[in-house]
Amino acid sequence: MRDGQNSVIYRADYQAPAYWIDTVDLCFDLDPAKTRVLNKMKLRRNADVAPQPLRLDGEELNLSRVLVNGQGTSFKIDGGQLVLENLPEGDQPFELEIFTTCAPVKNTKLMGLYVSNDSFFTQCEAEGFRRITYFLDRPDVMASYTVTLRADKARYPVLLSNGNLVDQGKLDDGRHFARWVDPFRKPSYLFALVAGQLVCREQRITSRAGKEHLLQVYVRPGDLDKTEHAMNALMDSVAWDEARFGLSLDLERFMIVATSDFNMGAMENKGLNIFNTKYVLASQATATDTDFSNIESVVGHEYFHNWTGNRVTCRDWFQLSLKEGLTVFRDQEFSQDLAGEASARAVKRIEDVRVLRTAQFPEDAGPMAHPVRPDQYLEINNFYTVTVYEKGAEVVRMMQTLVGREGFARGMTLYFERHDGHAVTCDDFAQAIADANPGSQFEQLLPQFKRWYSQAGTPRVTAVTQYDEPTGEYRLTLSQSCPPTPGQEHKEPFVIPIGLGLLAADGSELTSRMHVLTQASETLTFPGIDGEPVPSILRGFSAPVILEHAYTDAQLLTLLAHDTDPFNRWEAGQRLAVNRALAFMGQQAMPASDIRLDQPYIEAMRSILRHPTLDSAFKELVLTLPAETYLGEQLQEVDPQRVHAVREAMRQQLAQQLQADWQCAFETNSDTGGYVPDPVSCGRRALAGMALTHLCLAARSGAHSAGPGQPDVWPGKAYQRFKDAANMTDRFNALSALVISGNELAAPALQKFHALFKDEPLVLDKWFALQAGQPDRGGNVLPAVKQLMNHPDFNIRNPNRARSVIFSYCSANPGAFHRPDAAGYVFWSERVLELDPINPQVAARLARALDRWKKLVEPLRSAAREAIARVAAKPDLSNDVREVVTRALA
Ligand code: PHE
Ligand code: ZN
Repeated sequence: MRDGQNSVIYRADYQAPAYWIDTVDLCFDLDPAKTRVLNKMKLRRNADVAPQPLRLDGEELNLSRVLVNGQGTSFKIDGGQLVLENLPEGDQPFELEIFTTCAPVKNTKLMGLYVSNDSFFTQCEAEGFRRITYFLDRPDVMASYTVTLRADKARYPVLLSNGNLVDQGKLDDGRHFARWVDPFRKPSYLFALVAGQLVCREQRITSRAGKEHLLQVYVRPGDLDKTEHAMNALMDSVAWDEARFGLSLDLERFMIVATSDFNMGAMENKGLNIFNTKYVLASQATATDTDFSNIESVVGHEYFHNWTGNRVTCRDWFQLSLKEGLTVFRDQEFSQDLAGEASARAVKRIEDVRVLRTAQFPEDAGPMAHPVRPDQYLEINNFYTVTVYEKGAEVVRMMQTLVGREGFARGMTLYFERHDGHAVTCDDFAQAIADANPGSQFEQLLPQFKRWYSQAGTPRVTAVTQYDEPTGEYRLTLSQSCPPTPGQEHKEPFVIPIGLGLLAADGSELTSRMHVLTQASETLTFPGIDGEPVPSILRGFSAPVILEHAYTDAQLLTLLAHDTDPFNRWEAGQRLAVNRALAFMGQQAMPASDIRLDQPYIEAMRSILRHPTLDSAFKELVLTLPAETYLGEQLQEVDPQRVHAVREAMRQQLAQQLQADWQCAFETNSDTGGYVPDPVSCGRRALAGMALTHLCLAARSGAHSAGPGQPDVWPGKAYQRFKDAANMTDRFNALSALVISGNELAAPALQKFHALFKDEPLVLDKWFALQAGQPDRGGNVLPAVKQLMNHPDFNIRNPNRARSVIFSYCSANPGAFHRPDAAGYVFWSERVLELDPINPQVAARLARALDRWKKLVEPLRSAAREAIARVAAKPDLSNDVREVVTRALA
């Protein structure tokens, strides 16, 4: 192992760089096997730092020449770094020329310069630029870039980099060149180049400010007809950032390029965003409503980074949430604003909270728990997490809640006034919001509020109520605590905004307000309340906490029927379901098939499903049972197969008891006319799909209960709908209904689906994922997954494909993965070890599938520990995987 590869990096150790790089002139001779890179830089010493040698980061580079001010110089390589000790004295800038080569075709990590489908792409965040050339590869070193690309013209007709195209032309031997200049200084992680056979959709726009811009979406030749939605999303993004925050596009040209080989979702390189095809390509025939909405979010997200990330960037990688938390918050707001109506906004909010609670809460309670602003890391790639992103967004959202929308907009303006063009910290952001709101409660609470950045773990808020009949006084006591997390035994109280309402027994709203909880415990008094009210607490999910309150079923039913806050209305339904699931799981001896849901609950679900005015999308959310992982988090000790069996049995009950209602829901929602992915028709398709699944489930037991509903016709209807569907949403929902219900028509439908879409990689990913994620029936999924890995279309080197099979099984199918015979864990450890040398980032994400092993019941717990230990025992693990498994075993 090389030096420097094994050491933990601490936030507290931050030091300014010893040198600044002012300009970079890069020249690439692109060749898959051996690309030559000439890097000419102008550097100067940082006068604020004690004189020291220049240490440039590098990784997997072949160095052939180093010149200082045009002269050869002595250098050494130390721990992968290029070290120059004999540099000119004094403050004068000097020129450094470095000539290296690299091998893009061998780059399976997809970091740095790599080849995908015979095109060149780069990925530099967080530390990929050092795989392209020697550099001060850290975000606080911001330079002006000029980039010249040279390549074979026939094979690589399109040559792109950041900024503006200033020159292009022919060279000898069928080669050509293009020169790009980025007018903005940037850190190296925002550098990008693309070269290949690509086509683009173009759009000229005029901004509010009257400036003209060229927007382009580049894809492989055959995919142009799938770019309209991404382009629309981009135009919406440009308009939204101007309207909501007064932030305009600062470049003449803004490009998005899609690649099918990408580790993450997308990347905000200045003026040249590079996207996973999954978040660009969509047509009604190949993409679902969810895909369409994800594309809108991700296009928005990357575009919004142009200000929150690029114009103002991070001082160091511990500040990652400065750009990510803020930009997720912005993309969430963007999607809500585009959704329009209050009910559609609420649906988006519920979906976002569901992600937070099913993915981030477990992370915050497990071995990888870390603050939104982490204090240490071994491998920064492991900290692109739901905590930094989604919890970080909640922290920004609380700021907006506390200072109001206008106060927040003022804070953003001040943030850019102060920090445009600089690399700053999370503290700088919070300070700007506070300073723009002088005299506000937020300003006063700022030091305490910032604990959201420094303390890990999900706070628990416990609510206890007391009603005094004679005086009509109602008291609500709110207490907070936060469990210990690795390295943080004791936590101080947080600032927790809590949306509150009180409902009368008949469901009418008595009062509503925002309370800011700052103490460990506080009691609120409501005088003059006539009859014990029903409290609606944490409305809108106003803070990322776990709310504990001993709600009675009657109270929850009142909230579900009447709460004016749609979030808490939905939440009441979730609590009703959680309480029932926990009760069933407590009855260890009861077979899941004996589970019966009580009538009040069934009737409540029926009245939602039959409700005359509620949106279909909202109904679908209410009728969806809490996820297995979410249920697991409510338990001290988890038997994932039992959780799965109980949840499936509850679903089966809903299917049977509400059969006529599902039929009605299907009939009234199944025809959405010409395809438009707007919130209303998406909601209707979602509910129709859900109804179809339940109708097929009811048919499973239908032989006995065949009545007026004639359940056994539904699988046939689903198959027909699968064949006739005019869009992928309806088609895939029908296919899923057959697969989930375990119907015999699933097999021919899957076969047909593959035949129809064998040339559409993103659709094949769905095909793989559906099978790897299907409900387990007697341990059938693992053998199916192994077979899928032998399918000619499987390729472990393609991250999307690896995720569609391996992750869909290990991370998204707990009932099938946690097998008592431990074969799932063996499979997991083999795949982690297989992936690690190919792509450590993907391997490390997979490694996290066993994060919560300590909660498992025996013998799963011991088996899981053994599997993790087996991975940890391998010498030469990447930092990525080693950090994850070491923490898991700690
Ligand atoms: N910065 C990207 C985003 O969130 C995510 C990313 C990180 C992509 C690292 C690639 C590599 O928008
Ligand atoms: Zn981002």
